[in-house]
Amino acid sequence: MRPTFYLTTPIYYVNDVPHIGHAYTTVAADLLARYKRMKGFDVFFLTGSDEHGQKVEKAAQTNGETPLELADRVVKRFQSLWQKLGVSNNDFIRTTQERHKLGVTKIFRQLMEQGDIYLGEYEDWYCTPCETFWTETQVAEGKCPDCNRPVEKLKEESYFFRMSAYTERLLAYIEDNPDFIQPKNRRNEIISFVKEGLRDLSVSRTSFSWGIPVPGNERHVIYVWFDALTNYLTALGYPDKEGNYGRYWPADVHLIGKDILRFHTVYWPTFLMAAGLPIPKKVFAHGWWTVEGQKMSKSLQNVVEPNMLIDKYGVDVVRYFLMREVPFGLDGDFSHSSLINRINSDLANDLGNLLSRSTAMLAKYFNGILPDAANLSDLDTALKQKTENMLSVVDNCMDELAFSKALQSIWEVISAGNKYIDETAPWAMAKDPSKKEQLGTVMYCLLESQRLIHSVLSPFMPDTSRKALGFLGWEQEPDADNLKWGLLSAGTVIEKAEALFPRIDTKE
Ligand code: MSP
Repeated sequence: MRPTFYLTTPIYYVNDVPHIGHAYTTVAADLLARYKRMKGFDVFFLTGSDEHGQKVEKAAQTNGETPLELADRVVKRFQSLWQKLGVSNNDFIRTTQERHKLGVTKIFRQLMEQGDIYLGEYEDWYCTPCETFWTETQVAEGKCPDCNRPVEKLKEESYFFRMSAYTERLLAYIEDNPDFIQPKNRRNEIISFVKEGLRDLSVSRTSFSWGIPVPGNERHVIYVWFDALTNYLTALGYPDKEGNYGRYWPADVHLIGKDILRFHTVYWPTFLMAAGLPIPKKVFAHGWWTVEGQKMSKSLQNVVEPNMLIDKYGVDVVRYFLMREVPFGLDGDFSHSSLINRINSDLANDLGNLLSRSTAMLAKYFNGILPDAANLSDLDTALKQKTENMLSVVDNCMDELAFSKALQSIWEVISAGNKYIDETAPWAMAKDPSKKEQLGTVMYCLLESQRLIHSVLSPFMPDTSRKALGFLGWEQEPDADNLKWGLLSAGTVIEKAEALFPRIDTKE
């Protein structure tokens, strides 16, 4: 049986339209999903939408529509963007779907029955945009410690989850599983938070009604984070424990942004512990994007809209830029100049040029027919070894979710390829008939190296890779068996490649 790999993105709130921050997590998840599939894993890749809660209810009211109308409208924007970005999710869960409501209700009821959820009363500060309660000491001058917006005092009857009872177990789980929370600095933050002791968590609301009703007490709706986190189970068919749940749970990785780490590494594992279900293996929190040095916000009107970028530069450029520009886990800045720089230098100059130079030489010296590799010189061997070594470096990087490092190691081989052309000087060999065989070997090494480069790039830039492999006369899908040196066969007809990426005029 093939090993399984279950990965998820957060489910996105439908009160906002998709922007580059949402695209970031989803593209990262997509390339990881594609990479794992390429390596032979049985992958389940989930994304979806978070449609309940006060935020959505309020946004709908403002627009004069029902929350479901709003959700139906906005969810299409997400789905069409994912399609346009080439996102290969296996399912898309909406929290308003029956399959989801059923699973949430089931777990909530179970926790009520076993006394882990009890009825109490709540009085605290609430931040609606974050859907989070804060204590007196946490709110400085009436502002939410996360987003700095005003909080309001709320007193209501509420169901509570006995999270305090799980402090020790959670701490032990985090300590016994060093890979559970990544990156490391985030793990330390969470450990200190848990060490302070967990408070019981309010898990129902009576102040609005857009949510899943508490079983047996319909005045309450279930807290939106209890509802939302459970999507990772319900999309697998839970409470049915056969089928996809049995096959894929626990998740291999939840990819999230740093702002929602506590929900995923404190609330979520303790809910699961209470429900007697296994804990996900890894939660990875990436950083946040600013735009030209500023926080992205509607009021600053600087929200970067992925559709516009894709229309202007192409899908693969956007995918590449997002993954290359910033190490996954750190904050980063989006600027048009850095995007254009990446296009012109990495994509047009390095990657594109290597392919057009080499295929043009093959056309000129061998009529576009790939010769056999004879004895490898030291320079040939070095290129072969660099290429092979890169394949294993990329593999390790993907395990660590170090996407930009993976790309960096691929680009080292691309630069090595360009340098190899300069050093072997095929144009000089072509003048000397006694060097025909040596020239053939250089051509073989150059093109075989690029077959592997474009194969391993296929999860990152699927369209470009398909196009490039097409020029190289390689018709197979990249997979674990063909990611090895020496499979491009002599006699293959290789077309002279057109430029993969046009250069952008920086004066424009
Ligand atoms: N609905 C919740 C998640 C529930 S998961 C069970 C939610 N939704 S969200 O739409 O507000 O945010 C989704 C993701 O987008 C978060 O991981 C967040 O980190 C990410 N981003 C939002 N703005 C971002 C940037 N400016 N930069 C990078 N990621 C950002 O939270």
